[in-house]
Amino acid sequence: MLKGKNILLGITGGIAAYKAAELVRMFVAREASVKAVMTANAEYFITPVTLETLTGNRVYSDTFKPTGERDIAHIGLAKWADMTVIAPATANIVGKIAAGIADDLLSTIMVTMKTPVLICPAMNTDMYSNPIFQNNLEKLSKGGFHILDAASGELACGTEGPGRLPPLEDIVEAAETVLTKKDLQGTRVLVTAGPTQEPLDPVRYITNHSSGKMGYALALKAKRRGAEVTLVSGPVSIPEPTGVRLVKVTTAVDMKEAVMECLEESQVVIKAAAVADYRPGRLSKSKIKKTAKPLTLSLERNPDIIAEVGIRKGNRIVVGFALETDDLMENALKKLTSKKMDLIIANDLGEPGAGFRHDTNVVKILDVDGGVETLPMMDKGDVADRILDRVVGLLNKYRKP
Ligand code: CTP
Repeated sequence: MLKGKNILLGITGGIAAYKAAELVRMFVAREASVKAVMTANAEYFITPVTLETLTGNRVYSDTFKPTGERDIAHIGLAKWADMTVIAPATANIVGKIAAGIADDLLSTIMVTMKTPVLICPAMNTDMYSNPIFQNNLEKLSKGGFHILDAASGELACGTEGPGRLPPLEDIVEAAETVLTKKDLQGTRVLVTAGPTQEPLDPVRYITNHSSGKMGYALALKAKRRGAEVTLVSGPVSIPEPTGVRLVKVTTAVDMKEAVMECLEESQVVIKAAAVADYRPGRLSKSKIKKTAKPLTLSLERNPDIIAEVGIRKGNRIVVGFALETDDLMENALKKLTSKKMDLIIANDLGEPGAGFRHDTNVVKILDVDGGVETLPMMDKGDVADRILDRVVGLLNKYRKP
């Protein structure tokens, strides 16, 4: 979403201003263009030369200095920007914007700005909890500004509490969310992801190679599109996605319980998890010791979670996955109808760039009308968006009177 976008980065005079350099790099890495506007006090903490070098653009700080450009600075920059991020935002800039004061370049741009603004306050805890500052922040929020709450932790002044600039990944994610069209606003989406682990004894378990990447990408993209997302995840080593309710489970039985608990409130269910179909019939309390004889394991069937969701489907949209090694289309179609899904995402483990662990996937989207959409190899995030486009299409179709 940030790719090809123009981001105006406002930097104000707080110690966290030094982090703006890294933030620029993160935006540039996502192929956004960045122009920095600094307040006079920001220059105590970071130099314009640093920002000019990293953005590849001149740095703006003076309202009245001729720019050599057709528009005067505050008008030109406001027109140029697809969004503004103010990080760090001091109590001073928040107060000025809230009061409509325009006495330097950044505050003047804010009076002119028509595109979204994300404010990331960072300051000492006592300043952050000051009721006048909090009122100003609330006023901005009511006025349509996006606010990313400060994080808690150790502050540069030596105290502990709220006031830290949030992790830069969270700022980038908030910017992505702000710029994403909200076509799933008000929709509750339940996503499952990852493998399940079925314990055999306190040391061993049965599982599969699922990394959880596809399910996590779906949860994140649905959140950016405005959905309220619950992600029921088996054990994975992916960072927790921000803005998503994460329910961690281990076994298929746990996963079923968590899914059924959230089913009532969900309008969309996407089952990207690779659920183990079987579990050991007996869970040994102590470690199973080896003997000279071969060991035979007896396995019991696990519940088929998506089939049970299908039984209680109502008017929910249900999306499943089929990862196959043979007869992809035939197997996927069978699952689509027998499990009462609306869409099934079929992928062939044999295709290069498809399946477990990769950051890419190669899928076909099958629907109940016999439609087959074949997608080229794509990043799992882009696959997630294409799946969600189809979900939005179905929601619009069913919602029509
Ligand atoms: N699924 C599920 N519960 C299970 C097994 C699978 O909810 N116990 C869901 C998966 O999350 C996926 C879809 O069903 O969305 C298909 O999973 P898959 O393992 O491919 O299908 P199975 O029906 O288990 O068939 P098989 O393993 O025989 O291919």
